[in-house]
Amino acid sequence: MLTVSGLVKRYDTRRADAFAVRAVSFDVAQGEFFTLLGPSGCGKTTTLRSVAGLETPDSGEIAIDGVSVFSSAKGTVVPVAKRDIAMVFQSYAIWPHMTVRENVAFPLEAMGVNGAEAKRRIESALSIVGLTAFADRPAPMLSGGQQQRVALARAIVKQAKVLLLDEPLSNLDAKLREQMRVELRDLQRRIGTTAIYVTHDQDEALSLSDRIAVMKDGAIVELDTPQALYLRPRTTFTARFVGQADLLPCTVVERGADRLALDTPLGPLHSTVFPPGLDGTLALLVRPEHIEFRDGEAAFGRNMLGGVVQRVLFSGRLVEYVVQVGAAALRVQATSRSLKAEGDRVTLHLPPERCVVVAGDADS
Ligand SMILES: Nc1ncnc2c1ncn2[C@@H]1O[C@H](COP(=O)(O)OP(=O)(O)O)[C@@H](O)[C@H]1O
Ligand SMILES: [Mg+2]
Repeated sequence: MLTVSGLVKRYDTRRADAFAVRAVSFDVAQGEFFTLLGPSGCGKTTTLRSVAGLETPDSGEIAIDGVSVFSSAKGTVVPVAKRDIAMVFQSYAIWPHMTVRENVAFPLEAMGVNGAEAKRRIESALSIVGLTAFADRPAPMLSGGQQQRVALARAIVKQAKVLLLDEPLSNLDAKLREQMRVELRDLQRRIGTTAIYVTHDQDEALSLSDRIAVMKDGAIVELDTPQALYLRPRTTFTARFVGQADLLPCTVVERGADRLALDTPLGPLHSTVFPPGLDGTLALLVRPEHIEFRDGEAAFGRNMLGGVVQRVLFSGRLVEYVVQVGAAALRVQATSRSLKAEGDRVTLHLPPERCVVVAGDADS
């Protein structure tokens, strides 16, 4: 449904290395929820605005449903209004002097859709976002979440092939953001539209997306499903960006077909998840919730470690521990089912399939 290839954009042409986007390529399938995730300034908005036609890239190709809308090679630049897209921004900018219905009707008037067809699409969009009862209310007399829903209705009423969303929830408070996240996902599934979503929020990206492109310095560093990025990241950058991570320097002692023996500050450990090349500096990733307490078991044997509980952070549902193992400190997350106290001697098990070897420096 969307193909972006070799996208390059430089705002400051005087500086040769000032790329906002450097050679970004990805494909999005029909009906897919695709997310660009990365820290502020990594080029997410520039990529999205290029797809929309609000920025003209320096080079690359963009096609929507097989139709080229931008090609630096062929000199094609299809204007915004002629691209089959709808957009929702962070500042959802609804019209304050209009009612909810008038706001939603506005894009249709611009597209020349009117009469019974317009009415049907407006009522449908209002119903999808749950605002039918508020149709005649002046837009400013709505809560933040309702205003965000108006912005969504205004986008989906266009029935565009591709829906572009740039941090649409970041102006809402935490609770509403979580609720809208669920609504947004349901809504996208129901209308079956293709969505490109931009966010710097890892939780949002993981819970909404079919696939995520992790971006850094104007480039995609990894592109995969939320599960794969979280459980089997290939770089320290992604490992840190999509969740809590204990990263430790490690060296490969022995390499088997599906298993590595590693030397780490925790002692010798085995891993069954590692990149094919094993080139350059490597780090070992262990997620705090993947470490198991093994009560009553001896602290030797494969991937078993003896340690002492240094710190306990009780937050009700979850308990966070810092466990000192030799010279290293490990974060361990457990439920409140069985509690440890500071000073307790514990045995930890690090399952080899949750010991992930990634490329990069553990300390940077
Ligand atoms: N209109 C602009 N003029 C000059 N530089 C810009 C402009 N828009 C973005 N940039 C720069 O391009 C880079 C990428 O920005 P942006 O795409 O907005 O990142 P993100 O959305 O990931 O925060 C940043 O370094 C930003 O400062
Ligand atoms: Mg942005």
